[in-house]
Amino acid sequence: MKKLLSVAAITLLLSACSGQQASTDMASVNVESLRQGETSATLPAQAMPNYPSKGAAIERTFVHQPPLVPHKDSYKISAKKNGCLTCHSTEKAARMKATPVDKSHLDASGEFNNEYYFCVQCHVAQADNKDAIVDNTHTK
Ligand code: HEC
Ligand code: HEC
Repeated sequence: MKKLLSVAAITLLLSACSGQQASTDMASVNVESLRQGETSATLPAQAMPNYPSKGAAIERTFVHQPPLVPHKDSYKISAKKNGCLTCHSTEKAARMKATPVDKSHLDASGEFNNEYYFCVQCHVAQADNKDAIVDNTHTK
């Protein structure tokens, strides 16, 4: 019984601290959208990206550019499995008709260097949707 009472007391104490009793009639704050009113307009959905089903290397635009991925880039990369290495590892590339990973991705003994494990950190897929997402003024 004593135990039950102290549990009840603690519960009461906690609910008093929880701020549920706080006054709700505060002055309204004038929040302005960063989009400045544009949020009311319903924008059309962007075109769905369309990836070439069979990749062919896309011309590089500058030296040491990580080549763009000419096919979908949603292959699973997890701690247990790297979907990209299934085709691009030095051992499997020839059989899969894919370019093996660059020499820079290997360590001194020729083994894959796991610092390069998360491929899509550098290699991005090139889709044929032509929506300009951000302006780009990059020159060579
Ligand atoms: C089913 C096999 C397969 C898988 C899986 C795969 N690729 Fe490819 N990839 C290819 C083929 C085939 C090509 C076209 C031939 C080439 O240039 O290597 C290619 C091309 C590329 C290229 C262009 C190479 C160049 O020289 O321009 C990059 C970069 C690339 N893949 C990265 C990736 C990444 C990153 C992943 C994982 C998200 C991945 N690939 C998964 C087969 C594959
Ligand atoms: C830290 C950035 C980075 C990561 C991570 C990375 N790459 Fe690369 N990759 C590059 C760069 C940069 C090049 C171009 C090398 C050059 O031309 O000097 C390249 C080149 C390549 C090439 C073309 C090789 C050739 O001979 O033309 C392939 C294929 C490739 N990477 C696949 C992969 C795969 C698969 C993974 C993941 C297992 C991966 N890369 C992870 C930066 C990266």
